[in-house]
Amino acid sequence: MTQPWSPTSWQNLQAEQQPEYPDAATLEATLKTLASFPPLVFAGEARDLQAKLAEVAHGRAFLLQAGDCAESFGDFTADRIRDKLKVILQMAVVLTYSYGVPVVKVGRIAGQYGKPRSSPTETIDGVTLPSFRGHNVNSEAFSAAARTPDPERLVTGYHQAAATLNLVRAFTKGGFADLRRVHAWNQEFVADSAEGHRYEELANGIERALRFMRACGLDTAAEAQLHQVDFYTSHEALLLGYEQALTRRDSLTGDWYDCSAHLLWIGERTRQLDGAHLEFLRGVHNPLGCKIGPSATPEDVLEICEKLNPDRIPGRLTLISRMGATMVRATLEPLLVAVRDAGHPVVWVCDPMHGNTFTSSSGFKTRDFDDVMGEIEGFFAAHRSVGTWPGGVHVELTGDDVTECLGGSAKVLEGHLDRRYETICDPRLNARQGLDLAFRVAELLAD
Ligand code: PEP
Ligand code: CO
Repeated sequence: MTQPWSPTSWQNLQAEQQPEYPDAATLEATLKTLASFPPLVFAGEARDLQAKLAEVAHGRAFLLQAGDCAESFGDFTADRIRDKLKVILQMAVVLTYSYGVPVVKVGRIAGQYGKPRSSPTETIDGVTLPSFRGHNVNSEAFSAAARTPDPERLVTGYHQAAATLNLVRAFTKGGFADLRRVHAWNQEFVADSAEGHRYEELANGIERALRFMRACGLDTAAEAQLHQVDFYTSHEALLLGYEQALTRRDSLTGDWYDCSAHLLWIGERTRQLDGAHLEFLRGVHNPLGCKIGPSATPEDVLEICEKLNPDRIPGRLTLISRMGATMVRATLEPLLVAVRDAGHPVVWVCDPMHGNTFTSSSGFKTRDFDDVMGEIEGFFAAHRSVGTWPGGVHVELTGDDVTECLGGSAKVLEGHLDRRYETICDPRLNARQGLDLAFRVAELLAD
């Protein structure tokens, strides 16, 4: 018998990775305020995304989920959001045009402000303070005041998510994502690189195809799909008080939806089978994700599937594997077999970032592009050998010319890391590396 669920039933269980707020009354008042605010997304949009993900589950579409590790309250401009969208649109068009498969586009955007941490505290020069947990909780500056969790930040996060979403909607529906502008997504610093040139050729091909369609008498101006893009939002559903406050009953179906984003995922550190995060998310009707790391057993994964998707609805559950390049073949294959044999219709996506992080000799947390590609190749190989569909990739990237991850065709070297290391959490691919990755994934799909 399934236990009854309510938006508060998670409160009876252990919730990992929650901030310790100094003042419970302020937190309670803040959550009450948030609960009175309008929803950020609509239930119908979450259902549309789920229908698209069902196509991925059936092997007929590919998921591209991408964005910052942690979005920043400090670095919040229209240009930054636009440039991130540019590279995601470029990557999606590369995958669609090269392989001819629809690409479902989901950003780690408009709400990715809460971070789980391996250690609750950080020590520098003998001083120990609470760890940085994302701008919805505290600030990355190393002082006691900055690191003290402040509930008011949740309200700032809500407003920043609303403004970001507003811009994303305007960009994707208002002409910017029009395929006739496919050249304009190639930023100057990208256009100069090998993958930038390759992209220009592909964009020329798209222009020729559009001209051909018009010459055949098709009215391309009337086709909304050529001028607009469906772009969805996602973040890790970490701070359960915030997620609960934005959970509303859909007036059409009577079902509960977490209206903070279209897709919510559970992190590797909060996927305990008897924990509060699984409990909360099993009751909302959004499409869900769950990170799966190398310690997950086939039994764990099947139980996650049963808990989060007992009705076996295709598109409801996306499993995001993050094993590390050297481990992926050995650890992923038994999980793919178990899920396949149990008949669970999941979307399998590869996060090639979080299992491949290391600290450079110069002290920067980084990732090597070769390891990132190595994990993706292992992910594809595992699916080929089991006969399942490698449904997508989940990457941390930015549209800027940062130097946070090593390698790529325009090689970032260890000595370059300090040039533009701007992330407030994990190292991200820059726009060139993101585009490079898309071309290589398109080749893997075509193999
Ligand atoms: C993340 O996606 O930023 C993250 C913390 O991932 P994971 O839960 O897989 O470690
Ligand atoms: Co991260």
